[in-house]
Amino acid sequence: MSRALFTAAALLGTCLSATPALAKTAYDGVWLFDETPPRPGVTMMEVKSKGDHIEGSVTTLWYGPVEMQNPRIEDGVLHFTARNINDKAHPTQNWSVAIEDGQARLKGRIWESDIDSKGRKSKAKDASERAFKFTALPPLGAPIPSKIAATPPMGWSSWNKFDEHIDDKTVRAMADAMVSTGLRDAGYLYVNIDDGWQGQRDANGVLQPNAKFPDMKALTDYVHSKGLKIGIYSSQGPRTCAGYEGSYGHVQQDAKTYAEWGFDYLKYDLCSGEWFYADADTVKRSYYEMGAALQATGREFIYSLCEYGRFDVGSWGRDVGGQLWRTTGDITDDYPAMAKIGFDKNGNPDWAGPHGWNDPDMLEVGNGGMSADEYRTHMSLWAMSAAPLMMGHDLRETSPETLAMLTNKRVIAIDQDAKGVQGKAVRKQGAVEVWAKPLVDGRVALALFNRGETATSLPLTPADAGLAKVSRVEDAWSGETANRLPAAYSVPARGAVMVIVGS
Ligand code: GLA
Repeated sequence: MSRALFTAAALLGTCLSATPALAKTAYDGVWLFDETPPRPGVTMMEVKSKGDHIEGSVTTLWYGPVEMQNPRIEDGVLHFTARNINDKAHPTQNWSVAIEDGQARLKGRIWESDIDSKGRKSKAKDASERAFKFTALPPLGAPIPSKIAATPPMGWSSWNKFDEHIDDKTVRAMADAMVSTGLRDAGYLYVNIDDGWQGQRDANGVLQPNAKFPDMKALTDYVHSKGLKIGIYSSQGPRTCAGYEGSYGHVQQDAKTYAEWGFDYLKYDLCSGEWFYADADTVKRSYYEMGAALQATGREFIYSLCEYGRFDVGSWGRDVGGQLWRTTGDITDDYPAMAKIGFDKNGNPDWAGPHGWNDPDMLEVGNGGMSADEYRTHMSLWAMSAAPLMMGHDLRETSPETLAMLTNKRVIAIDQDAKGVQGKAVRKQGAVEVWAKPLVDGRVALALFNRGETATSLPLTPADAGLAKVSRVEDAWSGETANRLPAAYSVPARGAVMVIVGS
């Protein structure tokens, strides 16, 4: 090789080098993905090799760059593993890339998404255009004081019934129905838009609603004109759980936007943020960042933390400015799912009290998947748990039975009792659980839950309420009163009895 050629080859670092081990692989370079399933939204793959050593990453809209672990070429195919999330059985997943017709065919899996997409070879400058912009989390500051939600928040949310198919017209209709049914006057105050309202960011990074929400300010004005309050939804990740634009990198800006639009409530859902914030410290700081941003707007917000009960959220939810925090994954409209949450995953009662509540998720009452007895158990459990009461059905289709269940004054009063104690099981006997919740006036709410598949009968005793004697009994559901506890209560299969007793 001539001296000139040798120098040029060395400078370029190309395979003209005398050492074959330094040859680049066919995968080296930048590959752009233009059409890819929205989740996780692969935008780019970068591969660099030096000798036997290969490194690379796959950039996604949901999780930013996903690093290639143990990349190696076998039989001409690039194999690697990638960090997986949320799947304890598969903390990593196998991925592969093969060159097909000059394109890189990428196959892999992350959480619940399968990827099989083709990328085209491109230039290094495209890599900087599509590079994910990381933002640093600020440190924790002083606990954010809360003056609102002295009792558990009540209202309605779009998710359980409408999923992401929610629009301005439906939200207005829900506000109208909240008033015309009497639900507002029964105490339900918030009309909350869950996931699915988001559009794109403008040139200044300000998030715009999508076409289904033409004018957010007009919408909040409308809801306020009905004597109601209104909520919105986001995530600290780049993408929300349904794949919409999240607040990653725009936390302060988004808080300001919600305040300017006139919102009163934010549900902040970890979603794709779990890729970036995967331990107690970072999850907490990511909630603090938004809590502080909401506080900085000067507008009063209810701040609802939705991270599925991880990292003992109840022990720090108040410090980051939260008034309620989810204790579990999502509820569904069936008895087993509801009962699992309501009985066993409704959060540590020690953390609940005025201005901070365990949130076992929104109500399914009225959605049709449970029997009347099962819905009565659902409502009784939530009331005994001092849980937020966020309805989740189409309010325009509230049957008289559903309305009676949702507006029962005594049941709501148990939930909303000013003492703010989360009730809990005091006795378990076979399939039956007896729960007690002390009330501010010295009386005690008692519930008998039959988790079994056949009707049963069982007494309640003064000791269940921690009282020496009981001389006043009020049935929470029927309103009937008596001056002593009966010999036994019959409780239907999967049903509940709830009474308020006093000495
Ligand atoms: C998560 C939450 C739900 C709902 C959806 C929206 O699953 O837990 O309550 O907000 O996201 O995508």
